[in-house]
Amino acid sequence: MGPAAQTGRAAPAARVFLALLLTVCLLLRTCELKASNAFKPNILLIMADDLGIGDLGCYGNDTLRTPNIDRLAEEGVRLTQHLAAAPLCTPSRAAFLTGRHAFRSGMDASDGYRALQWNGGSGGLPENETTFARILQQQGYTTGLIGKWHQGVNCASRGDHCHHPLNHGFDYFYGMPFTLVSDCHPDRPPELDAAVRARLWRYTQIMALGVLTVMASKMTGLISVSWKAVLGAASLVLLFFAAWYASFGFVRRWNCILMRNHDVIQQPMVLETAASVMLKEAISFIERNKRGPFLLFVSLLHVHTPLVTTKKFLGKSQHGLYGDNVEEMDWLVGEILNALEEHGLKNRTLTYFTSDHGGHLEARDGHVQLGGWNGMYRGGKGMGGWEGGIRVPGILRWPGVLPAGRVIHEPTSLMDVFPTVVQLGGGQVPQDRVIDGRSLVPLLQGDTERSPHEFLFHYCGEYLHAARWHEKDSGRLWKVHYTTPRFHPEGAGACYGRSVCPCSGDGVTHHDPPLLFDLASDPSEARPLCPGAEPLHRAVLARVGEAVRAHRRTRSPVPTQLALGHIVWKPWLQPCCGTFPFCSCSRDGDPGET
Ligand SMILES: *[C@@H]1O[C@H](CO)[C@@H](O)[C@H](O)[C@H]1NC(C)=O
Ligand SMILES: *[C@@H]1O[C@H](CO)[C@@H](O)[C@H](O)[C@H]1NC(C)=O
Ligand SMILES: *[C@@H]1O[C@H](CO)[C@@H](O)[C@H](O)[C@H]1NC(C)=O
Repeated sequence: MGPAAQTGRAAPAARVFLALLLTVCLLLRTCELKASNAFKPNILLIMADDLGIGDLGCYGNDTLRTPNIDRLAEEGVRLTQHLAAAPLCTPSRAAFLTGRHAFRSGMDASDGYRALQWNGGSGGLPENETTFARILQQQGYTTGLIGKWHQGVNCASRGDHCHHPLNHGFDYFYGMPFTLVSDCHPDRPPELDAAVRARLWRYTQIMALGVLTVMASKMTGLISVSWKAVLGAASLVLLFFAAWYASFGFVRRWNCILMRNHDVIQQPMVLETAASVMLKEAISFIERNKRGPFLLFVSLLHVHTPLVTTKKFLGKSQHGLYGDNVEEMDWLVGEILNALEEHGLKNRTLTYFTSDHGGHLEARDGHVQLGGWNGMYRGGKGMGGWEGGIRVPGILRWPGVLPAGRVIHEPTSLMDVFPTVVQLGGGQVPQDRVIDGRSLVPLLQGDTERSPHEFLFHYCGEYLHAARWHEKDSGRLWKVHYTTPRFHPEGAGACYGRSVCPCSGDGVTHHDPPLLFDLASDPSEARPLCPGAEPLHRAVLARVGEAVRAHRRTRSPVPTQLALGHIVWKPWLQPCCGTFPFCSCSRDGDPGET
């Protein structure tokens, strides 16, 4: 009514002025931006943990029931070549949150550790990294994270919360600062890095021996050192001993905890009710912020082991405990979508669904599969090169703005979500650093047919294992593998007997010449092209090699967050409710009263 009516009555001079303005606007194409500024959609991002692309009905599974996610795809755009920046939680999520490869923030393996191991470690997403939540917060959004974080907690003291979600642009946090692991379940075999444990024990022994030798030498008068120095060394031994000791029975208490904002509210957490409280929290966040605009990142604990599933879903799927857990996850997603709809927010919200990386093939109990299914794609979680580790579901829905039922086969990255939501929220991506993601808006709206990514680089830890070339003109899709993991002789494209495949050392094969696949005709990467039979072989390898070199030049050294010194458990950093080391509590509190 208002503005339009006024324009109608405007004086001729004003009308000319408006027409001029409109022309200038059109020429500069700034009006569109203004318009989207004036209306900011809510953003709902849902990320599953360890879900395989082949687990969903809308990606071809005809026996697992995922009707809610399938409906989301029907009402929105489905990406078939959506790629995680890394095949493991910590680096993939760091890249997702920042729109940058994990090596740029130091969140990728440096000496063997590929993910954070403890809430009480000092590594995590550095404070000078900018998440999409931070930018949207500055654009007036209320931002919330519900679920898993796995990006670190503290730097130097318990409670400094330097890596905490609230220090990274989230106004509200409810969930696990760490991740679900089998150790969280008292009845399941522990999975936390046995190598760390062995190393800690070795250091403890060596240091204890050293201290004892020094003490003996001092008492017999062979050397003269101060007692203060001896005491210092002895306390260091104690510390290592404590860390080693803590890695056993205490994993559950130290790592499996729930926080609301800065407070630990369950230690150890109650697994049985985790799904229902997360859901309650997500719905309550939507209710509290229905006037918008809000950004809600629901980072599901499903479908990571130990696959805690409620009675309602146990034994209901055709695929055992794993299938039950996937169907429960789909139900959770459905409930969240219902909440949006009930509050009339469906058309005002961009909803996104993905998984942090491919399904976990090595997660087995005997021969019962406890990890996901990556469809026709080779490999899985932990493998940065093979498609199965990185090709994940990607669904975006915004009724009335994005076409319903559209399927896009172009290569896109999880890192693209960063510039996409920043643009929709009216913000600007940081100009002082490399951003690897590209806005998906033109592709989603159909303004362009082609993905902005001509090349994508696929990492395993800090090692580049493969690269993808989507030729701009011909549209051909090539994939080059420089390094691949050595699979278990039992085959099936997995590293049984390990938790995941390694990225370097004896467990990998370096290829010279590299393996080349035509991904469009061979998506399962089953038939490497022969140099003799493929006339373009040499030219493609040369062009991709050139792109890799150019990409490498954009790397600059940053402090690593996953070095041993940052990974080890430090008692003074351990989040704790009560008096350390007797941390224990179970307060539920009212969701959303903060
Ligand atoms: C559906 O998912 C289950 C569980 O991951 C898997 O075992 C099965 O092979 C999948 N079916 C299809 C047709 O992809
Ligand atoms: C939401 O958008 C769809 C698709 O454009 C439209 O059919 C529907 O009427 C809209 N609903 C509301 C409540 O505006
Ligand atoms: C963050 O700080 C580290 C250490 O000083 C530096 O190497 C890195 O480049 C900084 N990152 C950004 C994005 O400014």
